[in-house]
Amino acid sequence: MAFMKKLLPILGVFLAYYYYSANEEFKPEMLQGKKVIVTGASKGIGKEMAYHLAKMGAHVMVTARSEEALKKIVAECLEYGAASAHYIAGTMEDMTFAERFVARAGKILGGLDMLILNHITSATMEPFVGDIPLVRKSMEVNYISYVVLSMAALPMLKQSNGSIVVVSSMAGKMASPLVAPYSASKFALDGFFSSIRQEYSVTKVNVSITLCILGLINTDSAMKAVDGILSTEASPKEDCALEIIKGGALRQEEVYYGKLGWSNLLLRNPGRILLEFFSLRSYNMERFINN
Ligand SMILES: NC(=O)c1ccc[n+]([C@@H]2O[C@H](COP(=O)([O-])OP(=O)(O)OC[C@H]3O[C@@H](n4cnc5c(N)ncnc54)[C@H](OP(=O)(O)O)[C@@H]3O)[C@@H](O)[C@H]2O)c1
Ligand SMILES: *[C@@H]1O[C@H](CO)[C@@H](O)[C@H](O)[C@H]1NC(C)=O
Ligand SMILES: *[C@@H]1O[C@H](CO)[C@@H](O)[C@H](O)[C@H]1NC(C)=O
Repeated sequence: MAFMKKLLPILGVFLAYYYYSANEEFKPEMLQGKKVIVTGASKGIGKEMAYHLAKMGAHVMVTARSEEALKKIVAECLEYGAASAHYIAGTMEDMTFAERFVARAGKILGGLDMLILNHITSATMEPFVGDIPLVRKSMEVNYISYVVLSMAALPMLKQSNGSIVVVSSMAGKMASPLVAPYSASKFALDGFFSSIRQEYSVTKVNVSITLCILGLINTDSAMKAVDGILSTEASPKEDCALEIIKGGALRQEEVYYGKLGWSNLLLRNPGRILLEFFSLRSYNMERFINN
């Protein structure tokens, strides 16, 4: 009974929160003149995000390994109306590159408002039979480099009240066969970024963290990977890219996109949300505020 008394107002707060955030309105002008980094932007969803940002009049900085592709995308971004567009090519297997990339990008852009983390090492769908190097590479490229990039960008993001946008997947919220190393790296992102989101909320660091849970999207890589294995319908990458940017601009905690239907609701896991809310209240975080 006592638990119910506690629970009801909390539930009310959650409902009010969801109602409120659903009613906030996105305007493309929100991105005008904003300084934005997009990783994994040489193709797929990353490239589409760069195009959207350009059309919204943002300062765009793209990265990936393929220099030729990036050069072309930068030229297209300028045509689309980007306030500025630049690229720095390199591999996110190399943490020194990741760190230097953010420093150089910050100098070129003159600060940073939004860091969109989107790159992944290429993955095929197959049963796991012991490819340890792939496990290690997936963790390094899909997860550790995200942490390195975020920490390098944090001072600039604190200054701008900026945002970190982390692109994840349904495979980062639920078990899926044939993608064990990929899935592990996406679960790691949830653990890490959801944890620091709690820290930032308590210690008043005003940098928003948006985790994006995507269903199947019609990028060339994904279509090739699922061919003959998965018959799920894919959603358009252009629309997906826009929803990610919207979620980041509205400072939403999570974005769900794709033909998810009811799974969207179930993946949000209300049990976890309630547990996190209650358990956070038993911490004394006083000593960590303002340092
Ligand atoms: N498509 C889907 O169905 C789907 C579903 C759920 C979640 N997602 C997520 O959405 C995001 C984008 O997916 P996508 O389908 O658009 O992928 P994609 O088309 O394969 O693009 C991946 C990007 O990452 C870059 N990249 C690969 N290895 C890299 C490395 N070592 N260092 C730096 N950059 C590297 C690639 O460029 P270079 O090769 O030039 O380096 C490319 O720009 C990923 O986080 C993915 O997990 C996608
Ligand atoms: C960041 O937010 C704080 C508190 O709302 C505000 O005082 C400050 O002006 C903001 N800074 C920027 C750059 O928007
Ligand atoms: C955090 O930053 C956002 C974006 O600038 C601003 O709208 C909001 O008021 C800030 N919140 C706090 C608590 O400072």
